[in-house]
Amino acid sequence: MNSRLVYGARSDASVTRLGLGCEWTVAPFEPRLTRGDVHVWLAPLDRMSLDQETVRSALSESERSRAAALRYPRDRVRFLHAHFVLRSLLGWYLRTSPRHVQMVARDGGKPVLAGPSTMTFNMSHSEGVAIYAFAVHDEIGVDIQSIRDDIHFHRIANRYFAPSEVQRIMRADSSDQIHTFFQYWVRKEAVLKAAGCGLGDGLVTVDVGQDCRVEPDHLVARVPGSNELWHVFDLPAITGYRAALALRSVPRHIACWRVSQCEDFPVLTCQ
Ligand SMILES: CC(C)(COP(=O)(O)OP(=O)(O)OC[C@H]1O[C@@H](n2cnc3c(N)ncnc32)[C@H](O)[C@@H]1OP(=O)(O)O)[C@@H](O)C(=O)NCCC(=O)NCCS
Repeated sequence: MNSRLVYGARSDASVTRLGLGCEWTVAPFEPRLTRGDVHVWLAPLDRMSLDQETVRSALSESERSRAAALRYPRDRVRFLHAHFVLRSLLGWYLRTSPRHVQMVARDGGKPVLAGPSTMTFNMSHSEGVAIYAFAVHDEIGVDIQSIRDDIHFHRIANRYFAPSEVQRIMRADSSDQIHTFFQYWVRKEAVLKAAGCGLGDGLVTVDVGQDCRVEPDHLVARVPGSNELWHVFDLPAITGYRAALALRSVPRHIACWRVSQCEDFPVLTCQ
């Protein structure tokens, strides 16, 4: 596992990607999550061959109904897989079976573990890829977005981003503009999800561009109206996606692991 403190600064970290310095690797057989650690998992939902009966039986009634309400079969499978992997990971950390993991939604909608647990988590999914982040004694938020080139990102940036961020996007090389847009987007969402607020009008007010503090490998952002500071990290490259992580305190270690096949992921009870 890498220490995040060793990775160097970029000259303009607010517009370029922040160098976390790790890559997505296969997890050790028994990763341990202790205070100061962050574990981030990446799961390619479309490439996982899971027994659908096992998946469905691990989920709650409410998760099954939410999946059933989705219009397209592909979205239903992605949703089921995303929640199954979440439950499998939580169950593995908590030493219980996926179906026994109890979650509740806080005011604002953020799912948390029911009962007196110190473990926190957040997940995000986009176009067949899910990302999960786990910590202890901290608030955590994560966001992933697929880079879509069919959107009017200038228009969205003008509406939802701070003026300084729009300027940064415009100043980037034309081929980098869309990547910068999505990088800012996931940073903002990660902060809002860590704070448990959801999007609302928050995207416009969380500054992750020019005006926030830039540390060697991360940014420090604030949700206006609150004194809380959030530490924002760009996650390692995922082709076609951008992803970011936000926490209230600076972690000692961030480990990034991928779930590729069930064989290299003993946490999942794959059939
Ligand atoms: C929650 C929200 C941020 C999700 O963003 P998204 O990009 O559409 O979806 P993502 O894939 O990144 O994240 C979804 C996951 O985040 C988690 N989540 C849901 N609500 C959340 C919240 N308020 N904060 C943090 N995480 C949340 C869930 O695990 C959810 O997964 P699920 O929908 O499969 O159950 C967005 O839907 C939203 O803004 N909702 C409105 C909430 C709101 O207005 N709250 C007001 C009070 S402050």
